[in-house]
Amino acid sequence: MAHIIDGKKISIEIKDEVKKEVETLLEKGITPCLAVILVGENPASQVYVRNKKKACEYVGIKSLSYELSSDTTEDELLKLIDGLNKNPEVNGILVQLPLPGHIDEEKILLAVSPEKDVDGFHPYNVGLLSIGNAVLKACTPAGCIELIKRSGIEIIGKKCVVIGRSNIVGKPVSMLLLAENGTVSVCHSKTRDINEEIKNADIVIAAVGKPKFVKGDMISDGAVIIDVGINRMENGKLCGDVDFDECEKKASFITPVPGGVGPMTIAMLMKNCLSACKSQKGV
Ligand code: GUN
Repeated sequence: MAHIIDGKKISIEIKDEVKKEVETLLEKGITPCLAVILVGENPASQVYVRNKKKACEYVGIKSLSYELSSDTTEDELLKLIDGLNKNPEVNGILVQLPLPGHIDEEKILLAVSPEKDVDGFHPYNVGLLSIGNAVLKACTPAGCIELIKRSGIEIIGKKCVVIGRSNIVGKPVSMLLLAENGTVSVCHSKTRDINEEIKNADIVIAAVGKPKFVKGDMISDGAVIIDVGINRMENGKLCGDVDFDECEKKASFITPVPGGVGPMTIAMLMKNCLSACKSQKGV
């Protein structure tokens, strides 16, 4: 039976580390501040945004909330971002995705000043990530690496297979694994023999968006399985991209859904806010 990686517990450890550092900054008169922008009434986004604000409160980061109606124009949103970019009291800017269809997401992500881009989505930060120099790393991918490292698992020289090539998870997590000296394959819908790739993997990162895609007979004995998927099943329960019950019997380490990668995203966001603040204030 696999060791179940407790993402909730590890995320609290990280938030507590951030909280301590925030206390030191507060003593110096510096208050880290995150601006969160939500456009429209997507219920999942509303939950994410609420949880992000709660995490800010927990670690002592000030949060500013901009909840805009779904008919907000691209220009109005760009103006808001421009003001926040110029505001020295704001250290981090997060635009919750997805945005309504009439707003060009790429244009919005480009508008956020790279030093305040706590999501790590700006092409400048993506570029730094790919050369191994990123300060602000995409939160979910960085969370996956923390889960692996804090579970005492070595990445150096391991065969890492990433399933999925999205800009938000697949691509950045593959860059981070490479920076840790893993040997990385990125699989996707056009991969010729995905089973062959997964069978040989020491570490599998599943970010494919298909419920229970990774079955027990697809993985090697003792593999480390990190499940980034969040899918809602017909019975209303959440499940990942990994068949947990099957893979748990064969893996050495596995993350559950919920309670694995999910809580790490917000913990890493808090870490990014702290890093952004420190680098802007030169401390
Ligand atoms: N929507 C889903 N995940 C994320 C995320 O990590 N950041 C933002 N900004 N929007 C999201």
